[in-house]
Amino acid sequence: MASAAALAHPNIAFVKYWGNQDESFRLPSNGSISMNLDGLFTRTKITWNENRKSSKDTLTLNGVPITGRALQRVSNFLDLVRQMAGLDLRAEVVSENNFPSGAGIASSASAFAALALASTRAAGLDLEPGALSRLARRGSGSACRSIPGGFVEWTAGTSDEDSFAATIAPPEHWPLVDVIAILSSAHKTTGSTEGHALAGTSPLQAARVNDAPRRLDLCRRAILERDFAAFADIVEADSNLMHAVMTTSSPPLFYWQPGTLAVMQAVRAARLNGQPACTTVDAGPNVHVICEKASATKIVKMVGSIPGVREVRAAQAGGPARLVEVE
Ligand code: DP6
Repeated sequence: MASAAALAHPNIAFVKYWGNQDESFRLPSNGSISMNLDGLFTRTKITWNENRKSSKDTLTLNGVPITGRALQRVSNFLDLVRQMAGLDLRAEVVSENNFPSGAGIASSASAFAALALASTRAAGLDLEPGALSRLARRGSGSACRSIPGGFVEWTAGTSDEDSFAATIAPPEHWPLVDVIAILSSAHKTTGSTEGHALAGTSPLQAARVNDAPRRLDLCRRAILERDFAAFADIVEADSNLMHAVMTTSSPPLFYWQPGTLAVMQAVRAARLNGQPACTTVDAGPNVHVICEKASATKIVKMVGSIPGVREVRAAQAGGPARLVEVE
């Protein structure tokens, strides 16, 4: 039985992926930029089962057997790996997140990045990083950004071949911290996959997509030059643009809660007072407060005291997806 295990970090997008050119290939409407989150990870072990009698893939997440749609999504992904490797075996997948799945930190990115690496290695394939990123993208778009390390850009591309992510700067380039204000651990009512499919129903999506190259340039440059003021402006504008699309889709998607806005406003006020901090919000109510390491302790304290904030987590820039010992 061939086994392998891999670990991958989730990531936070500074220029967001929202909407697809092609749903089934997960070819995004626009490019995106993100940072991997150190300290948070998914660790996944896979075994290709040579016992011909096993007719189904199995999945265990944090010790709990998973069935239904989540298992189907993993099986569909493993079909791609079976095809690439010319394999006719079912898999046993055992996965753990070291962060609670209900904590509002997207786990599909780290999950499919770890699965892409572990499943291909266990199948005897050794994909180069771009090919691995392309494969992870098929499981979850944002997963392609969890394959390379540090600060990462996903080039939208126009086909399966040219849509993948690569590092623009290593983790140590800029000691940024993502201070995550957790407002709710409830599972979101509309997941990202369904949300992407609605993006085109907003009249604002075309403007958002057409303007993406400009935002990508500004964000990339701000990261490379470690220019926090420029970075803060573009990160907040990009998040607000995505939420403008979400709230004007049909049906509309409202992910913010009152506490979301309270954190956004408090951070804005802190920035006007000289604190290098800004906010970005994904498809949920939690707020990612991005700050420089020197002010992280202050920001954690400030954010934790805002009514509605239940828990605060902090993560610096993390490394790439990597193989780990099979236990
Ligand atoms: C709001 O990658 O989770 O977090 O491809 O359907 O799995 P699927 O979507 P997913 O979408 C991420 C959306 C986002 C923005 C981002 O991370 O860029």
